[in-house]
Amino acid sequence: MATIGKDIEKAVNLLKAGKPVAIPTETVYGLGANALDAIAVAWVFEIKNRPHFDPLIVHTYSIDKAIEYVTSFPEPLKNLAKIFWPGPLTLLLPKRAVIPDLVTSGLDRVAIRVPQHVLTRELLKQLDFPLAAPSANPFGYISPTTPEHVNKQLGNEIEYILDGGPCAVGLESTIVGMEGDKVCIYRLGGLDIENIIGIVGPVELRIEHTDNPNSAGQLKNHYAPKKPFYIGNLEELAKKYSDKKLGVLSFGKHPTVLNSHMNINLSANENLTEAAANLFSDMRALDDSEAEIIICDLVPPKGLGLAINDRLKRASS
Ligand code: TXA
Ligand code: MG
Repeated sequence: MATIGKDIEKAVNLLKAGKPVAIPTETVYGLGANALDAIAVAWVFEIKNRPHFDPLIVHTYSIDKAIEYVTSFPEPLKNLAKIFWPGPLTLLLPKRAVIPDLVTSGLDRVAIRVPQHVLTRELLKQLDFPLAAPSANPFGYISPTTPEHVNKQLGNEIEYILDGGPCAVGLESTIVGMEGDKVCIYRLGGLDIENIIGIVGPVELRIEHTDNPNSAGQLKNHYAPKKPFYIGNLEELAKKYSDKKLGVLSFGKHPTVLNSHMNINLSANENLTEAAANLFSDMRALDDSEAEIIICDLVPPKGLGLAINDRLKRASS
């Protein structure tokens, strides 16, 4: 198992030696490695069992740092960066040669984000390179939102997990880029797109649900628990699977008639921010329970609810 601790110096030394370290961010835990070192990055792909066509996000300290890795920074995206960085926003920007092709899977744009977490900010400040960091989970499984989640799945492959406690946002960053003069959203996430529209005006959604994407966070079956996971009306699903031990993921008021083995409420008072922060932990708890199948219903499709529903759909069987 990996060591879990708050020793930034230790993290710095491991990263400088080309080794990966799990790092806390406000969204989910990342598996960080020197983004300018293709060998360190290759190790991350290997540990995650991640296909090389799925590019990584580069994490850096500030807008000024980000500028060092890109050839241009279109005005609308810079305006978003000024307002929402540090935060759950990733920008796709034309990359400079210093970013290895492995990081971007050969694409012309690099995904860059300035994360908001006091420990990781201190870490990035002390490093003279940015960190490529995918979510610290085996490819396709639910993203980790605590150090223990990381340790359970990747603890045998890595030495150190920087302990930042549970993630405050709980959903991966929202990914934004431009096509011509249009601002496009490639992944719904922890920054509500209404906030983005408020700054740059109308946006186009490029959210795919496909089996063969060129940007793999879009894979249809992603963020998936190991157990069968069904979405629909809870009462109907409970009736349909009445012969099974049910794990129920509910939201707000839920039917009390359900004869479940385990019932976890994302947010009893229908708070979508709270539901987002709980989502991945609760999915894991149900997946680790003795329930045979997991059922849930979609949440209201507004604000962070859009991103929550996106993850639920991709998790479903
Ligand atoms: O909140 C987050 O974004 C977390 C934390 C650790 O920062 N990271 C994260 O990374 O979710 P990951 O690797 O699990 O998902 C990143 C996704 C990729 O699957 C891909 O869809 C997209 O970002 N992506 C990365 N680089 C890209 C690029 N150059 N062009 C298009 N999409 C890209
Ligand atoms: Mg991921």
